[in-house]
Amino acid sequence: MDHFEYKNGHLSAEDVKLGSIADEIGTPFYAYSTATLTRHYQIFADALHGMNALVCFAVKANSNIAVLRLLAGLGAGADVVSGGELTRALKAGIPASKIIFSGVGKTDEELSLALSIGIRQINVESVPELEAISRIASANGVVAPIALRINPDIDAGTHAKITTGTLENKFGIEWTLAHEIYSRANQMPGIEVKGLAMHIGSQLHDLEPFRKAYERMGDLVAMIRKDGLSIETLDLGGGFGIPYGDETAPMPNVEEYAQIVRETLGGLGVEYIFEPGRVIAGNAGVLVSSVIYVKEGSSKTFVIVDAAMNDLIRPTLYGAYHEIVPVDDPGKDVDMIEADIVGPICETGDTFVKSATLPRPEPGDLLAVRTAGAYGAVQSSTYNTRPLVAEVLVDGDKFHVIRPRLGVEEIISRESIAPWQSTD
Ligand code: LLP
Repeated sequence: MDHFEYKNGHLSAEDVKLGSIADEIGTPFYAYSTATLTRHYQIFADALHGMNALVCFAVKANSNIAVLRLLAGLGAGADVVSGGELTRALKAGIPASKIIFSGVGKTDEELSLALSIGIRQINVESVPELEAISRIASANGVVAPIALRINPDIDAGTHAKITTGTLENKFGIEWTLAHEIYSRANQMPGIEVKGLAMHIGSQLHDLEPFRKAYERMGDLVAMIRKDGLSIETLDLGGGFGIPYGDETAPMPNVEEYAQIVRETLGGLGVEYIFEPGRVIAGNAGVLVSSVIYVKEGSSKTFVIVDAAMNDLIRPTLYGAYHEIVPVDDPGKDVDMIEADIVGPICETGDTFVKSATLPRPEPGDLLAVRTAGAYGAVQSSTYNTRPLVAEVLVDGDKFHVIRPRLGVEEIISRESIAPWQSTD
């Protein structure tokens, strides 16, 4: 459930009409709902009741500092994958003691930053990375708390571009090698091995891959403990899928997921870390755009809107479906059309939905792309020199622009002509 509902025939984010935001700041923009973010965080955290658990929001899903601040206030930590995300998380008020650093290619500079702020844990994805951390920590006279991210070689059954847990993927240390590397890491200077981590992919709609991967992790825990080595934390990653409106089967619920964790890895006396992103932010955001033209051809109708693939790349990058609805409820007796909803960018891939059935819109009408709160604004760009999309946070009857639109002049002003490019 989210807090985007029609009130008096007008789609609203909580108590704010999306149309009034459009009147004030123009379109396109993302609007996030505080109540929905809060609700989703709470549902996830509550499902883990009785477990010693830390929920570290995957910052990559939505990294606006206002969103991070909100989650920090609810007790969330952060899973970051770059020095940039680390800086954002700190700026938003998430303490270093609740930040986990993941990613396959952390640079010396990023590792030094993480160690200097006293990060809770670095999830290590390769032996060369382990060696780099040992070297940097020793040189700085600190001890690096690390976990080994294992690759369990389990297919998550999700889109190929967002599956991470098979040996075909660049992520993690092969699970069959992890036992030996774990012992080796324990001997290395500047390293304190806290435990294991894994993340097998994103938008998982089936819970079985989680079960299989966690069982594999459980086997490893037993092997490692048999050697007398300690395991204090298990980071179980993110990946929990959400409905986008085109599902043929019901989506799993987080209670079932938590039950799988208890069955496979419960009772180990460890602290569990979770890295959910999409399940918290996905349904908490919409992308609002205006119709520019309705173009009718002999075989197709196109609704051309002022948002494009540079604002929301998921449809073209992953073939993802996002439901698109009119902001003003057109009522019952309306003329329905079948049309492709497309952006203005000069690529055929700039299509949000093909053959959508919708009330015939007029130029200037607002449409809302639903379930756009995760991996939406974070993946936006200025391709085609389009202004960088604005973001708004709603709370009850209040809203605030948490990222103003970055205008064309500002974008171009960062570029310069080389001194040898004479203008005369
Ligand atoms: N932890 C790690 C190490 C990750 O790589 C990810 C996502 C997560 C947690 C959070 O996963 P979530 O709970 O959000 O599924 N841009 C793509 C999704 C990429 C996900 C990358 N990793 C999309 O728009 O679908």
